[in-house]
Amino acid sequence: MTDQNALKRAVAAKALDYVTDGMKLGLGSGSTAEIFVELLAARALANLICVPTSEKTAALARKVGLTLAELDDAAPLDLTIDGADEADRDLNLIKGGGGMLLREKIVAAASRKMVVIADASKLVARLGKFPLPVEVVAFGHKSIAARLAAALAALGYVNVPTTLRQRDGATFKTDGGNVIYDIAFGAIQNAPQLAAGISAVPGVVEHGLFIGIATTLLLAGPDGTQIIELERER
Ligand code: A5P
Repeated sequence: MTDQNALKRAVAAKALDYVTDGMKLGLGSGSTAEIFVELLAARALANLICVPTSEKTAALARKVGLTLAELDDAAPLDLTIDGADEADRDLNLIKGGGGMLLREKIVAAASRKMVVIADASKLVARLGKFPLPVEVVAFGHKSIAARLAAALAALGYVNVPTTLRQRDGATFKTDGGNVIYDIAFGAIQNAPQLAAGISAVPGVVEHGLFIGIATTLLLAGPDGTQIIELERER
């Protein structure tokens, strides 16, 4: 039986095949992306420029000696490598379980390619079992959540369980100082339509649906030795 960390390590190691020296590389966030950052540092590529997607990844990348740049100084990036909370076979994703969805999406969108690394349990037939993180500004966030609920109801999602994210007994704040509502859809029928509906609510900063952004999905199979590789054009 392979443990979860071994699967994450196997798929993070595979992602190294996509990296060449001299690249401008986006570094994802979350436990799988952090393993990738450590493996990447061990490669000691002298001319690699990295752009982190969170303060946490930035701190780790500095610690392991990677060279960091601001996105605006490095963009467009060649590639971003990041984890996911859910992925479907069309390479649409739910991200933001770690709360870093905003910078993750900005960096991935500024990259020519995005390789997603996860264990195979993250592959789903339909997105939505993992609660969708929606980042909203802290100002008036309860009113924003009420508008969001109305917008969702108009799309047929009535009374969807919605939770203001907490951490250590307090409201969770993102790197950008915003808050997150996690919305448990169960199953999302039309992800592009839902994404547009959520984005139209004033005060919504970003949501965790990544549609048409990922170009490669690497999944570690149940025994950790098999890597499933799915690709699409952007
Ligand atoms: C961070 O905000 C997330 O998008 C992560 O990329 C995602 O939650 C995957 O994290 P793990 O690799 O820890 O499962």
